[in-house]
Amino acid sequence: MNSSKSRKKIVIAIDGFSSCGKSTFAKMIAARLGYIFIDTGAMYRAVTLYALENGAIQNGMVNEQKLKELLDRIAIQFRFNPQRGASDIYVDGEWVEGKIRTIEVSNLVSAVSQIPEVRTKLVAMQQEMGRDKGVVMDGRDIGTVVFPDAELKLFMTADPHIRALRRYEELREKGDNVSLAEIEQNIIDRDRADQSRAISPLRQAEDAVVLDNSYMTLEEQMDWLFRETVLGQLVD
Ligand code: DC
Repeated sequence: MNSSKSRKKIVIAIDGFSSCGKSTFAKMIAARLGYIFIDTGAMYRAVTLYALENGAIQNGMVNEQKLKELLDRIAIQFRFNPQRGASDIYVDGEWVEGKIRTIEVSNLVSAVSQIPEVRTKLVAMQQEMGRDKGVVMDGRDIGTVVFPDAELKLFMTADPHIRALRRYEELREKGDNVSLAEIEQNIIDRDRADQSRAISPLRQAEDAVVLDNSYMTLEEQMDWLFRETVLGQLVD
């Protein structure tokens, strides 16, 4: 399995349920291929944080009109962070990686990501970022809406309890004092919201390859990717 030189640059679209390890896997694939990794969930989270900090969400309620006004002003940027080996997200020039993965943002992001104007704006940004290919993009609608012609589409899933345990450990390591039950409930709620929203619901593209990583290490997933998908033939 070879490194950063690919014969032909492609778009790799990774969709699936929350907390399946999509971003971790996508980041690893991008590093292996010398591709750019784009975490689109971080973009929806950044808009949610911006809405919270600018009065468009109050007492857990999203003020859609106010949020639509804010959308014209919000500047979202990714800047590569060599320490992380991935890009960090900035809003209006402020580094917000540390603020977008709290349970508060996680509980509100489903409501924000249902708003058509939010999706239109972020999808256009994502298409622009992947225009020259050589990207691994993860989210919910990448293979269905953002890049329906992506050369490789993965659909990731894992047992909800295992997903909750993974997220729990991640948040505890960061010092976030959150309960496992709360995380599991948030994952179940977001699965439901992602699949049932009217606009761009989470669904598996017909030509996507399914990866259930409940009992797989990252290295096993990587081996599977090069062995079982077209990636092995598409890159050197
Ligand atoms: O991948 P994540 O859990 O960080 O994503 C946060 C939320 O953003 C998720 O609950 C659904 C939404 N999302 C979306 O609607 N479309 C995407 N392409 C990515 C994320």
